[in-house]
Amino acid sequence: KKILVLHGPNLNLLGKREPEIYGSMTLADINELLYQRGRQDEVLIDAVQSNHEGVLVDTIQSAAEQGYQFIIFNAAAFTHYSIALRDAIAGVTVPVIEVHLSNIHKREEFRHHSVIAPVVMGQICGFGADSYLAALEIVLRKLK
Ligand code: DQA
Repeated sequence: KKILVLHGPNLNLLGKREPEIYGSMTLADINELLYQRGRQDEVLIDAVQSNHEGVLVDTIQSAAEQGYQFIIFNAAAFTHYSIALRDAIAGVTVPVIEVHLSNIHKREEFRHHSVIAPVVMGQICGFGADSYLAALEIVLRKLK
């Protein structure tokens, strides 16, 4: 069993990027928590980060043939305007869970709307790294 964790633009800067909003953990720290939790249930977690919309589209398109059963996706800023990512999610059979570190609904107006929300299973936001871990718990339960 394999799960893909996909991180969008600027998430490579976690730890130094606006820590008052996104916390002090690095992306490597978050990935390590996810890998460890996956190992407990003998589920392989692969984490991919890209700053490029097209790379994210390609990764979503190839997820099924790569053997992934779920995608946990933080589309970062693309959440709010990428119709290409929305269409990629809508066009594949692999289910996607949308996650955000911050609570996008209590931030600037432009972050309130997610163009991918209508095509994902559900959205978890506002819990920092725990948003990813909560999504992973749900996926692990579904894989049992
Ligand atoms: C984010 C929220 C987005 O609005 C922002 O552009 C990000 C990160 C989050 O995880 O809180 O880059 O997706």
